[in-house]
Amino acid sequence: MPNRILTIVGARPQFVKAAMVSRALSAFGGVEEVLVHTGQHYDDNMSSVFFRELGIREPDLNLQIGSGSHGAQTGQMLVAIERAIVDADPRAVLVYGDTNSTLAGALAAAKLGVPLLHVEAGLRSFNRAMPEEVNRVVADTLASVLYAPTSRAVENLAAEGILAPRVLEVGDVMYDAALSFRERVSPSRYIAAPYVLATIHRAENTDDPSRLSAILDALRTIARSCAVILPLHPRTRARIEGNPALVEGIQILKPVGYLEMLRLERDAAVILTDSGGVQKEAFFQGVPCVTIRRETEWVELVEAGWNRLADPERSDAIVSAYEGALRDALPAKIPLYGDGAAAQRVAGHIAGISR
Ligand code: UD1
Ligand code: UDP
Repeated sequence: MPNRILTIVGARPQFVKAAMVSRALSAFGGVEEVLVHTGQHYDDNMSSVFFRELGIREPDLNLQIGSGSHGAQTGQMLVAIERAIVDADPRAVLVYGDTNSTLAGALAAAKLGVPLLHVEAGLRSFNRAMPEEVNRVVADTLASVLYAPTSRAVENLAAEGILAPRVLEVGDVMYDAALSFRERVSPSRYIAAPYVLATIHRAENTDDPSRLSAILDALRTIARSCAVILPLHPRTRARIEGNPALVEGIQILKPVGYLEMLRLERDAAVILTDSGGVQKEAFFQGVPCVTIRRETEWVELVEAGWNRLADPERSDAIVSAYEGALRDALPAKIPLYGDGAAAQRVAGHIAGISR
């Protein structure tokens, strides 16, 4: 049997994660990777730009299943991924993170009895109202091998009875990416003046008009004393369309490529976000962060004093968390996400198990 694995990606953060593991797999040699893009993200600035900048090769298959309700999107992916797995006949299926593409890949592999490998396993927000929490719990339950980024993730899995040797703590592949691409980020400052970088895209924050309005109210308040730059996710853009007053005074950008994002993050005074990846990148870049959510999966950043949570329903709480982040000295940096070789560990393990 050929040493073949089938990798599923579909959403922006997965391109960043998969780029590192695919590169490490090629360097190891001996494993053939079939790359399947579900098409969940499809705009050039949500998808192709990451393939270009991160040097990911063209997917072998693009299923072109973007948009739609959770059920419709996941169901269509399940049908198409099942077909792709049957055609490729891989030894294992590799999925990343917690999106609907992850869920569909996990279900398709499990139903076909093909071993499932999950990168970024073990994260928990303990909030099942989040679609991502459901997706990651299912993927972790079904996975044969769980590559956990942190010791907290390993503990979360242990609490659910998922233990070594299924679980391997490898470090965070997003940290690998941030380190690896640091040199390619333009050394010149993004803009000379101080600014706050914000990203908002989580369904629970954007789909509830009162929450979105509280968040944007906070950003407008902050923008009166410091420039606020908001690269706008298409989900959020759709929610504010036709209501420019909501973002008055805020500098709106289209979604930016990975290298531009790293530069924006690096040069920001404070980052305000509800993104999982951006919370960690703030820490990687040494920038204080406010997470506009009631809970986070990346609890170690809050415990270490690098990140603070702000209630998305209270614009005053967001503004005061921002003021605290701006004012308070940052704690010393401690290693929380491995040593930059997580992807090598994942690839080495895959090469070992697929021989
Ligand atoms: C998805 C993930 C989320 C992740 C985020 C990363 C799920 C359930 N959610 O959320 O966990 O944090 O990706 O960014 O999988 N759209 C476009 N162009 C695109 C992509 C999306 O216009 O290239 C629009 C479409 O109208 C689409 C909407 O954005 O319906 C939402 O996209 P979707 O992929 O369903 O969810 P995200 O909010 O991106
Ligand atoms: N990102 C980007 N351009 C943007 C916003 C985010 O390149 O305009 C990158 C960001 O640097 C990180 C990843 O996308 O590497 C995070 O994705 P996102 O916030 O969409 O999803 P999450 O991490 O919350 O699942």
